[in-house]
Parts: sequence; structure tokens; C-alpha cells
Amino acid sequence: MRYSDELVEEVRTRSNIVDVVSQYVKLQRRGSNYFGLCPFHNEKSPSFSVSPGKQIYYCFGCGAGGSVITFLMQYENYTFQEAMKTLADRAGIQLPEIEYSREAKAEADRKAVLLEINKKAARFYYAQLRSPQGEQGMHYLKGRGLSSEIMQKFGLGYAGKYNTSLYQYLKKEGYNDELLKESGLFSMDERRGVSDKFWNRVMFPIMDANSRVIGFGGRVMGDGKPKYLNSPETRIFDKSRNLYGLNIARSSRKKNLIICEGYMDVISMHQAGFNNAVASLGTALTSQQASLLKRYTDDVLIIYDMDGAGVRAALRAIPMLRTAGLRTKVVDLKPHKDPDEFIQALGREAFEERLEKAENSFLFEIRMLYEEYDMSDPQGKTDFFHKTAERLLRFEDEIERNSYVESVSRIYGISQEMLQQQIRKLAMKGTAVSYQEQREDRTSKRKREKVSGADQAQKLMLTWISNYPGILSQLKPYLKPEHFSNPLYREVAELLFSQLEKGEISPARIIDHFEDGETQTEVAGVFHARLELENPEAMQKALRDVVCSLRESSINTRIAEMPVNDLAGLQKLVQEKKELEQLRFQFPVIEINT
Ligand code: UTP
Ligand code: MN
Repeated sequence: MRYSDELVEEVRTRSNIVDVVSQYVKLQRRGSNYFGLCPFHNEKSPSFSVSPGKQIYYCFGCGAGGSVITFLMQYENYTFQEAMKTLADRAGIQLPEIEYSREAKAEADRKAVLLEINKKAARFYYAQLRSPQGEQGMHYLKGRGLSSEIMQKFGLGYAGKYNTSLYQYLKKEGYNDELLKESGLFSMDERRGVSDKFWNRVMFPIMDANSRVIGFGGRVMGDGKPKYLNSPETRIFDKSRNLYGLNIARSSRKKNLIICEGYMDVISMHQAGFNNAVASLGTALTSQQASLLKRYTDDVLIIYDMDGAGVRAALRAIPMLRTAGLRTKVVDLKPHKDPDEFIQALGREAFEERLEKAENSFLFEIRMLYEEYDMSDPQGKTDFFHKTAERLLRFEDEIERNSYVESVSRIYGISQEMLQQQIRKLAMKGTAVSYQEQREDRTSKRKREKVSGADQAQKLMLTWISNYPGILSQLKPYLKPEHFSNPLYREVAELLFSQLEKGEISPARIIDHFEDGETQTEVAGVFHARLELENPEAMQKALRDVVCSLRESSINTRIAEMPVNDLAGLQKLVQEKKELEQLRFQFPVIEINT
């Protein structure tokens, strides 16, 4: 269920998009728009624009765009309701309780309470670490070289010697046993009753990308087993969809994200200034985590322990990251085991150097393959050669493939011609799955970018109307929503026309009319067609051409779709075509002002 259109409208009009976006992005005025570095992809020069007139934002680099509500949904990962709530609070508007279905409400309430319990637990552990009872924990963390600032940044805490402290505290706060059990922070035993899951451990709160505590990892202070205990998965804690440290790393403004294995590694890297490090949560990297990373970056550095298990984990992660559209490199820390140990031993400059020297993930894969075969044996050599050619064939882009063929042949002393020949042979058999295909299945982005010429004209028209609302009433006798052949654009046109009837045009409201984020983004793009037509004559001519071409293609489509025996219908269209020809010669002068 949604809020009423009026209410959405009120919240939006009382939330200036420039003010809201400015809380997250540094904006500078340029002409009638504001520009800044896009928070949705990494860039060096600003292509992210915010239009106070239209109350929408759009990135010319990555195509992200929408209304102030969409912005919070994208940036904070909020639902529509959460974004509305945030903006309403900010503007001092009281929202009515929305009527969820009973189950939906119960579910939302439960999640909220579980988040609250985790937050209170985190505060409890945090305070304990800094109290006299927490001395041992503090001693341990200091001994591992952590500063007070970094401990605070990651909210580190301590679970004391007694195994019911947290339980007693939360009971006093009024939570019932059923909810406490669901939080995963306690063990329930028929005979012994309830006890804390974590005790005598230093505590690492695990947060989602929006810094909400969703679970914990707890480490023994020494060599006990298990080394780490983790919260089980709960209604709010999905280990496959979150990454440790992402809440901080997401705004690091570095050119890539570093993915490693351990909590301590993340913290140690952040302390050394590498605040773009994240870790998976005690499990292998998942495809959901790869997509999550892709929301914040295009480039990933993998740092896994380079023992057998770590190499296997890296080899599993690389294709997953590649499928998500990420470029990946692998960092080698030899002879050290993990980033924490490396930094302790050799310091930040040396670490930085290793990052710089990271190996291209494809070359890493080939090198690992190489180590599997006995190259002194002709059979081993042949097998390696065949497997390598098979891998190379997966690159669909010829230039890309050729440059890999060149590198591989140089590194392993295989002749380029022979490799190419083998690749061609395999290609004829047509069995290999290309990386490209794997990727394309997953995203329709690429397709979306290929806007046809007809679509481009329609888009241009919609942008003009939103920039210069005055032209719409003048164009009305010649242009109708049904002239837009693209269904989405037609719907947008209908909304624009009906807003015109009511006397005011609001692109932001049109965006919010569409519920799913993908469509909202696409509509935001519609209002941002590139138009660099400063001189009025060029603009007149362009207006005429676009109106006429819209109408012409609309006529042609209808002719094509017409049943062959509908003569009356056909005649009408022929008549329409004649009128169109006339219009071309007598197109009125349109007054263009904002
Ligand atoms: P590591 O054993 O590499 O530990 O486990 P670490 O992160 O280097 O920690 P320190 O430096 O010894 O203190 C890597 C990650 O695997 C998960 C944790 O997420 C840990 O950070 N893990 C490890 C567990 O969940 N349980 C364990 O018993 C061990
Ligand atoms: Mn370690």
C-alpha cells in the first residue's frame, strides 16, 4: 500500500532536492543546474547533475537518476516508505500510519525490534569494553595495534566474563524471550535456561551498508576455539548480502574496493588509511555480494590468504565478480599471510606498493592453471595450452582477447600464432560460453543504452517540454501523446499533457508515479536528453523536425499494423499524411521561454 499522491507531492515539494542531495554530495552551481561527483559510480570529473527547476537529478556518466525520493532509495538503499519517512521528518510533516496488511506490518515490526535489540547489544558491548570490567578486552585490542579512534569507528566492544549480562540488561529493557531468541544473541536451553551466546570475547558489530547493526562476530582473546563466533542468520542478518566495512568503504572515494577475508584485516587496513576495504562474513563470496560491490565501484582488488583454501576462494570469486561486471586484480602479500600481518610487519607504504602491483585476475587464473600442470611433460604442456586457449576464447571482444593472447604468449613462451589458431579451431566448434554472454544475461543496461533514433526524438521532445513548459500549449494542436510510439514515453507524455491541463508541470511527480526504481531511472533519463541548441533558429527547426518525425513514424506504425481490408482507416491515414506534409511547410513559430 502507498501513501496518497497528494501526500507524496507535499513531501516532495517541501524537500528541496538540492538541499537533500547536498547532504551527501558536494554540489556546485553551473547555469541553472548543480553539478557534483556522482555518488553512484566512481568518477574524477563531475557528471552528476541536479536540477532545482525540475526537482530531479541525473548522472550523464552512469545514467542514475530520479526524484528526491529516488535519490534516498538509491543512496541509502531505502524502500519508498523509508525514503518518505526520512523526508517527512526532515520537513516536519506528520505521516499517517499506513495500512499494511497485518502480516506485512508484523514482519516490519519484528525487523525493527530485532534491529533495536542488536543496536542496544552493540551499545552494551561498546560500553563494557571501555569500563573497568573490559580491561582484558582493551588490553587485547591495543596489543593488536588498534587505536582508540579505529575501535570507535568500528564500534568494537567486549562481552564480559558472565554469560547472562546481556540477557539481564535486555530483559530490563522489556524484551520478551521469544524476540530475544530470534535475535540470535542467546542460547536457550531447557535445563539451564537462557544464556548469552557471546561472553569473554572482543566483539565486532556487523553493520549493513547503512550502518545498522545486524549481527556480531566475537573473537577469543588468545588461542581458544572457535576463534570467531558469529551471529546466526536472522530475519535481519543475511550473510550472503552484506559485507563487513561497506558502510564506511562505500564513501571512501578511492578508485576501487578491496575485498579480503577477515574482520581484523578490514580494521587494520582502515587504520592504515585504506578505508576502501571490506570483507565477506566468514563465508565464501556470493554473487549477491558481487552485485553489491558493483553498486559502489567498477574495480575490485582481492586479497585472500595465498594458501590452498585462499587460492581456491579467489578462483571461485573471480568469475563471480567478472559476471557482475567488475574488473578484478589479485594482490599478493607473500610471505605474509594476511593484510593485518603484512601492515604490522612492513607498514603502509609497502602495502600500497603491493596494491599497485596487483595482478590482472585473468593472468592470475592462468598462472594458477600453469601450476597445476607438469610442464616438463609434453602431455602436461599440451593440456595447459588447450585449457588456456579455451579460457581466452571466452573474451568476445577481439581487441581485448588479442591483448591477452599477447600477454599469455609472452609470459609462458607459447607462440601467438599457435594460440590464435587453436582459439579459431575451438570457436568453429562453438562450444565455449563467452564472458560477454554471461554478463549480458544479467543486465539489460547495455540494451537500454542503445536508444533507437525514433526513441531519441521522443526523448528530446519530452526534455524540451520539461525545460520549456510554455511550448506544450503551443504544440498541442499538432502533437498528442499517442504520437509517442515508445510505450513508456507515451505514458510520460500523457502525464505531462494532463499536468498541463492543470496548469503546472512537475517532472519529479511524474518520476514518482512509476513505482520501480529501474523505470524511475529511465524516466529521469528522458528528462535529460542532451540538447545543445542554444540558437533559437536551430531550435525552431529542431522542434518542427521532431514533431513531424514523431507524427510520421506514428502514421507508419499504424499503417503497418492496419488490417489490409480496412480501406476507410487507410484513407484516414493517407489524409493525415497529407496534413503532415502541409504542417512541415507551415510550421508555426513557437515561442520558447521558460
Ligand atoms: P582468519 O582465521 O583469517 O582470522 O579468518 P583473521 O581475520 O585473520 O583474525 P585474526 O587476525 O586471527 O584475529 C578470517 C575470517 O573468517 C571468519 C571470520 O569472519 C574471520 O574474520 N572466521 C574465522 C570465522 O567466522 N570463524 C572462525 O573460527 C575463524
Ligand atoms: Mn589475521
